[in-house]
Amino acid sequence: MTTTREKLEALRRKREQALLGGGEARIAAQHKKGKLTARERLDLLLDPGTLQELDMFATHRTSDFGLADQKFLGDGVVTGYGKIDGRLVYVFSQDFTVFGGSLSEAHAEKICKIMDLAMKNGAPVIGLNDSGGARIQEGVVSLGAYADIFLRNTLASGVIPQLSAILGPCAGGAVYSPAITDFIFMVEGTSHMFVTGPNVVKTVTHEDVTFDQLGGATIHNGTSGVAHFAAPSEAECLGQVRTLLSYLPSNNLDDPPIEECTDPIARSDEALDEIIPDHPNRPYDMRAVITSVVDRGSFFEVHEHWARNILVGFARLNGRPVGIVAQQPNVLAGVLDINSSDKGARFVRFCDCFNIPIVTFEDVPGFLPGISQEHGGIIRHGAKLLFAYCEATVPKVTVITRKAYGGAYDVMSSKHVRGDINYAWPTAEIAVMGVDGAVNIIFKDEIEHAEDPEAKRQELVAMYQEKFANPYVAAARGYVDEVIEPRHTREKLIAALDMLKNKRDTNPAKKHGNIPL
Ligand code: HXC
Repeated sequence: MTTTREKLEALRRKREQALLGGGEARIAAQHKKGKLTARERLDLLLDPGTLQELDMFATHRTSDFGLADQKFLGDGVVTGYGKIDGRLVYVFSQDFTVFGGSLSEAHAEKICKIMDLAMKNGAPVIGLNDSGGARIQEGVVSLGAYADIFLRNTLASGVIPQLSAILGPCAGGAVYSPAITDFIFMVEGTSHMFVTGPNVVKTVTHEDVTFDQLGGATIHNGTSGVAHFAAPSEAECLGQVRTLLSYLPSNNLDDPPIEECTDPIARSDEALDEIIPDHPNRPYDMRAVITSVVDRGSFFEVHEHWARNILVGFARLNGRPVGIVAQQPNVLAGVLDINSSDKGARFVRFCDCFNIPIVTFEDVPGFLPGISQEHGGIIRHGAKLLFAYCEATVPKVTVITRKAYGGAYDVMSSKHVRGDINYAWPTAEIAVMGVDGAVNIIFKDEIEHAEDPEAKRQELVAMYQEKFANPYVAAARGYVDEVIEPRHTREKLIAALDMLKNKRDTNPAKKHGNIPL
């Protein structure tokens, strides 16, 4: 008869075996590639000692292709729950040392179990992805198992934050689970995402491309916009995940976490009074405006390397998280184009899902003209940003620093689309279009028939500028609530957000809107 002590020892041995994943040789191979193991990653991600692992002894149920004799405890994924900054999170971390982290029925069941718990208990899910995709030996069962996860990702969207770190391969249909989640993090050199890999690309399109060129961190952060964050190492990547979570509520019914603010609320910055160049076509750095206004050191940029003509990210004002959306005049004059519209729309919708007020800094010359933009669907993409701002019911506060031209004025959280407070700096120009363009159209005949057309044009430009290129026409109608001195922007924003902190607004009852995708 087995004694109690022996049973306890058997449990301990089993645990030790599970902790080894696919074995020491494969762990060494993982390290040799510059990658950490699934458990080492969780150690870095979670508060020390907080991981509560579930299903450590789960195994696959396949006997085809000789798999009956190849069972590894845990079946290629570590799942459970733990704490980040003392707050509950659910995690899964794929173990590449077991069948290349490939997804079997049992592996997926483990992930689905923690997703179901996360939904019931209202806490974020963080997935650490490192997988060869569907467990090839399981065939369609593995495809069904992926779909079980996709469904849960979709149902959880807007209910709990879902974050995906890609820390190895992520290929085929497997990319669609991270793609449905809210934010994707990648590591330079070791993580890859693609629907079909370089070999298939070569066969189908005859293009030669490396893994990195096709779907590395640089490509997905800078070119495709699929990923939101890039890091030089796994440790830094997991640090970014922790930082992002510090701005997010645990679920859509919670408020974002408030931090104690040591930065004076009324801190003014005289440099802001001078930041707008005298010439309307000169650029300046909107990031400098944001970092000056928000709580010191709190701006955490999202999608930093993609569509850089718009800036989005999280920050704190008096310790409360806000989402920042801002044109960047330093890049393409801050124009709205296809990618910047998509980037802004996605971010605005995330903030609205999770009760994060939106602060908009506006300096926009309009939508980008051009055949490629029109043929690429700038109408459809620009409409996403407009739709996102219109439907958002969180507090929305806008600061117009300079240009608010044309349709872009309406889009960027104007009062007409339920912006709560619109501030303008005295340098604001709120008009249907830029002064030169406007004068050339409405005074075409007058200029052509003038004795000195250029002198006439200059005279009309000055007249138009005087009349419309300022915030006071809009202020006279209440479209601008207050014209403020730039140096006082921080104090003004904090006051407005404090006033709006109990805001309640709703949209008409419906199944869901039909955002132009
Ligand atoms: C079963 C797999 C596997 C898989 C890797 N392995 N991928 N086992 N199913 N999908 C196993 C390998 O046999 C090997 O086992 C171990 O994992 C490590 O793999 P290596 O090839 O040695 O590693 P590496 O050289 O680093 O290459 C990694 C890789 C490559 C690029 C991911 O393994 C690969 O191309 N795998 C197949 C990828 C793929 O085509 N997957 C299916 C995609 S379709 P041993 O025993 O030697 O350690 C798909 C559809 C999803 O996923 C659809 C969802 C809707």
